[in-house]
Amino acid sequence: MQKTLELTDMALEVVEGLKASKKYISSKFFYDAGGSRIFQDIMQMPEYYPTGCEAEIFETHKRRIGSLFCRDCNTVELVELGAGNGQKTRILIRGLLDEQVNFRYIPVDISEEAVIQLEGSMKQQFPGLSMVTRIGDYFHMIEDLSREYPDRKVVMFLGSNLGNFNREQSISFLSQLNLVMSDDDLFFIGLDLKKDPEVIRRAYDDPHGHTRDFNLNLLKRLNRELGADFNLDHFMHAPYYDPETGTAKSYLVSTRDQNVRLQDVDDTIHFGKWETIYTEMSQKYDMEMIHDLADASGFRVAESFFDRREYFVNSLWEKV
Ligand code: AVJ
Repeated sequence: MQKTLELTDMALEVVEGLKASKKYISSKFFYDAGGSRIFQDIMQMPEYYPTGCEAEIFETHKRRIGSLFCRDCNTVELVELGAGNGQKTRILIRGLLDEQVNFRYIPVDISEEAVIQLEGSMKQQFPGLSMVTRIGDYFHMIEDLSREYPDRKVVMFLGSNLGNFNREQSISFLSQLNLVMSDDDLFFIGLDLKKDPEVIRRAYDDPHGHTRDFNLNLLKRLNRELGADFNLDHFMHAPYYDPETGTAKSYLVSTRDQNVRLQDVDDTIHFGKWETIYTEMSQKYDMEMIHDLADASGFRVAESFFDRREYFVNSLWEKV
C-alpha cells in the first residue's frame, strides 16, 4: 500500500518535470537499489575525491570532533541524514567508542536497501552499537525529529549532500532543521570546496563511466517503475562545472528527435535532438558562502575541519 503511494508521488513529480519547458528530474530519484549501488562505485573511484577527503578529516580530527559532540552532556543522539553505506561515519563511530562517549546512532536514508544493509554491517562491525534506523525523505524526517529527545542531538549531513540543493532550497532546508533542533543540539555538515576546476570536472565525468551509469540509471528506473520505454543509447551523460558560481550540473541529453512513452501514466514525452533533462546540481563552496548559509538559517559556525589539500570541509554549527 505504502509502496503504491510512493510510486504515484514519484510518477507525478517526474511527469511534471518532463513536461516543463526545461525538462528536469529530481536528483533524489537517483537512489533506487541500483543507483545506490552505482553510487558506491562512484565513491570507490579515485576521481571522486570527496569521500577520501572526508575520511581523512575524520581520521585526523576524530578525537577533537568526538569531544565537541559530547561536550557537557552524557549521551549523544547521532542522527545522520542520507547515511548511505555509512563508510566514513564508521571512522567517527570508532572515535566515539574509543573516547567512551555514550551515543546512539540514528541513520536516515531515502533508500530502504541502503538502510537495511547499513544496519547489518554496522551491527557486525560494532556488536554493542546502539542503533535505530529510519527510511525516508529528509524533509519528512525533520518533522519526525521534532519529537522530543531528552539528550543532545548531533545532526550530521555529510558528503556534501547539501550540494544537491540550490541556495534557496539550502536555506529553507537548514532553517527547517534549525527550527526542530534544541538550543543545545549541534549540526555537523560536510561540504565540498571550490578547487582546480579540472579536478571537479573529472569527479563528474569519470573515465570508468560510473557517473554516466548513475545518471542514465534514472531512465532505467523510469522504464521499470513507470513503464517507460527510454532507449538508454539515445541519451548521453553531460556534466559541466562553472568555476565562477561553483556549481557543477549534470544533464541527460537526447541525441535524437524521439518520443518516449510513459505507459503507467498514459503519456508520451517528446524530446528534440540535443534537448536536455537537468538531473543534478553539486554545489562547491568557499568559506564565505558557508558562513553566509549558516547566518541565513540561524546557525553559527563553531569550528571547521579541513583535509590537507583543503578540498573539503566538515563544519560544526550551533544554533545562534
Ligand atoms: C551524494 C550529492 C554529494 O553531488 O557529488 C556523485 C552525488 N552525483 N556523482 C555529489 C553524485 C554524481 C553526490 N552527492
